[in-house]
Amino acid sequence: APGAGEFVPARADLDDLREAAHGCRGCDLYRNATQVVFSVGAADAALVLVGEQPGDVEDREGEPFVGPAGNLLTRALDEAGVGRGAAYLTNAVKHFRFHESPRGKRRIHDKPDRVQIVACRPWLVAEFALLRPRVVVALGATAAGALVGPAFRVTRSRGELLPWPASAQHPGDFPELDPPALFLATVHPSAVLRSDDRQAAYQAFAADLAVAAKAAA
Ligand code: URA
Ligand code: SF4
Repeated sequence: APGAGEFVPARADLDDLREAAHGCRGCDLYRNATQVVFSVGAADAALVLVGEQPGDVEDREGEPFVGPAGNLLTRALDEAGVGRGAAYLTNAVKHFRFHESPRGKRRIHDKPDRVQIVACRPWLVAEFALLRPRVVVALGATAAGALVGPAFRVTRSRGELLPWPASAQHPGDFPELDPPALFLATVHPSAVLRSDDRQAAYQAFAADLAVAAKAAA
């Protein structure tokens, strides 16, 4: 597969990117998904959050973070005083990767592999060329890997405000911002939903988002 690069239009704004992404054939994931799920939010949002890939509900609705994990994220953003509407939400991979359950009753999420993450990354780079965030939040290891490189360990650095894009493995892919932006990694909201101690996991997740929201304010 060629990667998304040849499908990303030049001199595009966010709406142009959203439109063009419908035609992306940069990896095999477009084949089985319902539709591309690009992003929601304004180019001038101070807080940008990057997830892994759309889930089952997002794939049907065409909007990121509108399923169970998205509802949890939306609640935590509200509590952090940002509100979903003031943030820009996107994903490292723009099509849903899944397999069917044995009798085809359910679509079960599969993690995107490194090839798909790299293939889809030109969209993310194009988005960041237009965004002017104060804070970039990676939701989980896939997002952190796409943004700052696969060697980054969320468990070691979660909740810390780090320089952006200097923390990235390929900082040249992302614009230098003035004033400089910050990067914070936390867990994915679906990991909170799967946690044995959901309450504690939610509190820790919400606390990380509150740190990011405060830095973006
Ligand atoms: N999980 C993600 O990473 N992104 C979404 O859009 C929904 C769930
Ligand atoms: Fe293109 Fe990304 Fe979809 Fe693959 S996942 S087809 S690279 S938009």
